[in-house]
Amino acid sequence: MIIPVKWSDEGVLMLDQRLLPTEEKWLTLRTYDDVADGIRDMVVRGAPAIGVSAAYGIALGIKQFVGTNVDDLSEDLDYICEVLGRTRPTAVNLFWAIARMKETFARAKDSGKTISEIKEIMIADSKAIHDEDIAAQALIAKFGGELIADNSTVLTHCNAGALATGGVWGTALGVIRGAIAQGKKISVIADETRPYLQGARLTAWELLQDNIPVTLITDNMSGHMMKQGKVHAVVVGADRIAANGDAANKIGTYMVAVLAKRHSIPFYVAAPLSTIDMNCPTGEQIPIEERNIREITHMKEIQLAPDGISVENPAFDVTPNDLIAGIITEKGVARSPFSESLKKMFE
Ligand code: MRU
Repeated sequence: MIIPVKWSDEGVLMLDQRLLPTEEKWLTLRTYDDVADGIRDMVVRGAPAIGVSAAYGIALGIKQFVGTNVDDLSEDLDYICEVLGRTRPTAVNLFWAIARMKETFARAKDSGKTISEIKEIMIADSKAIHDEDIAAQALIAKFGGELIADNSTVLTHCNAGALATGGVWGTALGVIRGAIAQGKKISVIADETRPYLQGARLTAWELLQDNIPVTLITDNMSGHMMKQGKVHAVVVGADRIAANGDAANKIGTYMVAVLAKRHSIPFYVAAPLSTIDMNCPTGEQIPIEERNIREITHMKEIQLAPDGISVENPAFDVTPNDLIAGIITEKGVARSPFSESLKKMFE
């Protein structure tokens, strides 16, 4: 059972996903700043896992407050949230977790809790956010598993597994694990997912751990696989889903969605409600992270491109709602028109 981030009395424990699949190393992050660095530098990555890590970072920062004035603690909270909020812009789970922890703090403060009581309440709520994420994935696995036919091959892009969430199931990989738990025979085709190789390094590693048949391909092979009839469904995760159903996910997902449409293959997005941003009307408004171009020009120390080449490195793209067959959440599967079906999920 994979749990990529944990709370401990020493600090926040994070499995260093930069070193996978060849090395399993745990880092103990002792300050909220370290947690922020862990998110920014992708020690931990994946929208729900970023949310859980941010919640733990906030709880850690609050726990380390040494003052006696609750208003000073409140100021510290704002600063801690600002630092964590600046790490990565696209995954809305980060901002969802920050807002949730701020609400919890305000309720505790307004009800006259002491500083030590507030510390306990914040730690407890960060753990609750983690538990709720895992519980949501189990439901996504159930509802999603029911959509996948026996003897199917599912293509997935990036890593939306246990490593990318609070752990255990994952979202897109949760759907695959859910179908298998329902007794179905499922195999997976995993896009390597350049430039950071979350598919080759993380999805392949996770599925091999679970003895789930997986075949690795380069991203530019997915069209060929579909044309040969080797793909029966596509399931991916999401970093932010707009109120109209447009979904942001790892760069390359949009391309896979267009190909799936061309070959009449159902394209599903699996994500918890914490990834749905009802304040974001369409995909146009989703901020897309631009990452360091060295992720493209170099593979670790090996230089791949000539010096001075101009490079772009958007980390995510947006799949428009008309290419999505269903959005699988812990409340069930939302279908088009998504502006209505997603709203219902929050009622
Ligand atoms: O840059 P990353 O590795 O954080 O991107 C992750 C993805 O795009 C995932 O598919 C998404 O966050 C969903 S994780 C359940």
